[in-house]
Amino acid sequence: MKLKINNLSKVFGDKRAVDGVSAELTNGVYGFLGANGSGKTTLMRMLATVSRPTSGTITFNGEDITKMGDRYRDVLGYLPQHIGYYRNFTVEKFLYYIASLKGIEKNEAQQRVAELLEIVNLHDKRKVKMGKLSGGMKQRVGIAQALLNDPKILIVDEPTAGLDPKERIRFRNLLAKIANDRIVLLSTHIVSDIEYIAKEILIMKNGQLIKKETPRNLLGQIQNIVWSVPAEEAEIPSFQESFKVGNIARKPEGIELRIISEEKPADVAVNVPVNLEDLYLYYFDEGVGA
Ligand SMILES: Nc1ncnc2c1ncn2[C@@H]1O[C@H](COP(=O)(O)OP(=O)(O)O)[C@@H](O)[C@H]1O
Ligand SMILES: [Mg+2]
Repeated sequence: MKLKINNLSKVFGDKRAVDGVSAELTNGVYGFLGANGSGKTTLMRMLATVSRPTSGTITFNGEDITKMGDRYRDVLGYLPQHIGYYRNFTVEKFLYYIASLKGIEKNEAQQRVAELLEIVNLHDKRKVKMGKLSGGMKQRVGIAQALLNDPKILIVDEPTAGLDPKERIRFRNLLAKIANDRIVLLSTHIVSDIEYIAKEILIMKNGQLIKKETPRNLLGQIQNIVWSVPAEEAEIPSFQESFKVGNIARKPEGIELRIISEEKPADVAVNVPVNLEDLYLYYFDEGVGA
């Protein structure tokens, strides 16, 4: 199975929301990481055929997806970033409704809805109205609707936004569980969502794909640029002015700054192991305020 993106662009007025992206995706989870406005949703909408590219193509096993019509939609599951939920539908009714939109025949829909309610752990909420669900439960219903047709390609856009930490972990475990034999694309700006489950991380910046690597390789590339620096309270502003400062730890033994810098930021600085949060700061240039 191969999803291939060839020099894909989407232009809105004078804004290149997606700018010449090329990538090949096979089975596994791909994490799209990027600041707000970097083009993740626009790219995913094109992959879901909800929006047409300005230029470039997307092929699935060699065929242009815009020419595959229903044959592509049959293998696609999509959870948009903003999904209009049907507040007065019960969970079960909503899933049957989406199943009918997807052209799934009634007997099959019944079996599939029951199965999915188990998978997303919402069986005992099946009679509850959508408007009464927590954010995490709604997202799990969202995943269930995307999985109704047992898609080979699953696209989920910022599925963990607004979830509490516990719900986020549950959602991540769920994705890892269903990722076998599928191409899963997940966008997020929360690094820990994809740190452990992504086969590759794709970093978007200003509409461009600037990195596509395994988490391990990505971290390897920025080894030796993360420093721990003991500092006095009064020194913090000047460090923040000159360097990208991440975490500021205030411990009983004193303050420790986490600094991302190619050069050693101070004589007393020591290198510490890199994590994906550091990588995010490194690529997105967003120092964290005090
Ligand atoms: N329908 C649209 N019309 C005009 N500009 C858009 C539209 N959709 C997205 N954009 C712009 O394209 C850029 C990328 O947006 P988006 O794909 O939503 O980024 P992300 O999902 O990474 O936050 C942003 O600058 C956004 O304002
Ligand atoms: Mg988005």
